[in-house]
Amino acid sequence: MSLSREQMLVEMGITPLWVLRDAVPETPAAELASAAPVATDSKPAPVADPLPLQAATPLVAPVVSPAVAAQASVDTLEWPELARRVAECRACPLCEQRKQAVLGVGDLNPEWLFIGEGPGAEEDAKGEPFVGQAGKLLDAMLASLDIARGNRVYIANAVKCRPPGNRTPEAAEMAACRPYLERQIALLKPKIIVLLGKAAVHAVLHDDKSLASLRGQRFEFAGVPVVVTYHPAYLLRNLPDKAKAWEDLLFARRTLRERMAPELPF
Ligand code: URA
Repeated sequence: MSLSREQMLVEMGITPLWVLRDAVPETPAAELASAAPVATDSKPAPVADPLPLQAATPLVAPVVSPAVAAQASVDTLEWPELARRVAECRACPLCEQRKQAVLGVGDLNPEWLFIGEGPGAEEDAKGEPFVGQAGKLLDAMLASLDIARGNRVYIANAVKCRPPGNRTPEAAEMAACRPYLERQIALLKPKIIVLLGKAAVHAVLHDDKSLASLRGQRFEFAGVPVVVTYHPAYLLRNLPDKAKAWEDLLFARRTLRERMAPELPF
């Protein structure tokens, strides 16, 4: 018994029959009419090509890029699932050398969100951001604002895994981690975001201008005011700039107060 092409595919379990949209050139109807044998009675038409089995080839090009798909799949996560996804993340090479991913720490209903660069050795070991020398300075900066780790403030990083040798994270690494940071911001709904250093500015604002040129301005991310200041590790090496960082924090506090009580004359 001779089977038609479709009958053969059904026998082999290869249905429905998918075709690559781009790979099949459009054949004019007239050509088809002359090339295809036409069955004139009830017998199946002869099989021209007995092995047309391209079904293992990817069939239709993906509609969204993997990065967009990853973003979409993170966008709806609640904290426990987000934490699990970050802990297991393998979206960039930073996962290879981490001891653990460092999601963030603090009040889950904060006024302030501080965003740094990425975990260092101590943060990688402890699983908490800013626990080394730079962290001690950050804690002092928070205290000057009458806030403390875990009380009205959340602390996160542009990347969740330690860059080897404490190097600056690369743009692609920050891009891979961005869906997590964006989800954190969406869940936290902070009243103000303070970006600590150039990497955080790049990750959130996509801006690579100098910090000096960005300080003292109010930016916005997802409707939240954003201000920029120096990274505490930079301030440890450049003590005179601590005064500028203090100015930036006062500017941030004014911006926060304007937002929370616009009618009050602060
Ligand atoms: N520097 C950062 O940017 N983040 C940390 O968590 C620690 C140091």
